Amino acid sequence: MKDLRLTVAAEMERARARTALLTDAVDETDLVRQHSTIMSPLVWDLAHVGNQEELWLVRDVGGREPVRRDIDELYDAFKHPRRDRPALPLLGPEDARAYVGQVRDKALDVLDHVRLDDRPLLNGGFAFGMIVQHEQQHDETMLATHQLRTGAPVLDAPAPPPARVPVDGEVLVPGGPFTMGTDTEPWALDNERPAHTVDVPAFLIDAAPVTNARYAEFIAAGGYDDPQWWSERGWAHRQEAGLTAPMHWQRDGDGWAYTRFGRTERVHPDEPVVHVCWFEAEAYAAWAGKRLPTEAEWEKAARHDPATGRSRRYPWGDEAPEPRHANLGQRHLAPAAVGAYPDGASPLGVHQLIGDVWEWTSSGFHGYPGFAVFPYAEYSQVFFGGDYKVLRGGSFGTDAAACRGTFRNWDHPIRRQIFSGFRCARDAV
Ligand code: AVJ
Ligand code: FE
Repeated sequence: MKDLRLTVAAEMERARARTALLTDAVDETDLVRQHSTIMSPLVWDLAHVGNQEELWLVRDVGGREPVRRDIDELYDAFKHPRRDRPALPLLGPEDARAYVGQVRDKALDVLDHVRLDDRPLLNGGFAFGMIVQHEQQHDETMLATHQLRTGAPVLDAPAPPPARVPVDGEVLVPGGPFTMGTDTEPWALDNERPAHTVDVPAFLIDAAPVTNARYAEFIAAGGYDDPQWWSERGWAHRQEAGLTAPMHWQRDGDGWAYTRFGRTERVHPDEPVVHVCWFEAEAYAAWAGKRLPTEAEWEKAARHDPATGRSRRYPWGDEAPEPRHANLGQRHLAPAAVGAYPDGASPLGVHQLIGDVWEWTSSGFHGYPGFAVFPYAEYSQVFFGGDYKVLRGGSFGTDAAACRGTFRNWDHPIRRQIFSGFRCARDAV
């Protein structure tokens, strides 16, 4: 139990260091400014992270007095759409920093005193893990906000590792049942539960995410101008939004450049394409004579071990991600070239399922059979059956605490400010 408390405290500290880095990187003007109407001001994310920690760890788990009773409504994501948040009487930078610090002190005191084994909310430190993941998820959202910010660069990181092995083509995943979701992962969120058997017919899946080079071929072939590759909704969106290339791409001579975190460079051909919406992924797949994988296909490719028939936590096994396995955790501020992580491949040889770019699947967001809200409906359940597509695997901006073979993300099919790419699949004939 001692070890669990230390692990939890270390994870809370790691998340907070990331939050501090992302919010200290900009001046106060940039902290309170809205960089895009689809994003919150960074100072909202900061205090919202503290407010969730206060609601769950200080008040609910700890049964303590509120740190502040007057601001819950401001930081309730359901009360105010992102577009309206800059006009709210938000805590300023100084007050927001003081608030999250006060909440953290109380939450750590709760951690020192609470039993971690006498109720489901606390088993395995779950409530703390949920709050760690929540902060790390907002850290990824804040990184996406940084990508939308204009002005001189403020973030820096070493380049991702280069390709170490050639990876191309498709992998055949044999048909048959596998275990999807989990009952045992201690910090798995409600939408990842329960474990259940899904019979998945044989299919082929790309050994790696679609690269910039391949995606540029689709553009060069007139893919954005030919409605035959697009669904009706996709084409309507392509027209209305004027889509001609991934977000942040611009023509550069006879090729392409992109701007990342304030720096413009030539597009790297061998990296997974990023900042495409679901409709673009769908159109590319049709042009390539393929389709997007279903969520079950993606998870089977990522977790199924044909030698034992069991599902792994990660493609490489059950061990927590290390830097050699996957490009996670904002260590690098770009996806790595295809072939950079042979140690992270699945038993069947599917590469880079975890990290680099979130991968769009063809599936809508629903609860698994036997789904139960835990511990609150507003995390997952209120989004079931809505206009959302599931993304899997995490990106370079995702922390390992919020990424595993069962982890499910979702967004509207038009969204591309997130670090979203894809790989293709097709039926095995
Ligand atoms: C799971 C990434 C879609 O950011 O909207 C953050 C995570 N939920 N605060 C989101 C979340 C509540 C969520 N996603
Ligand atoms: Fe949140």
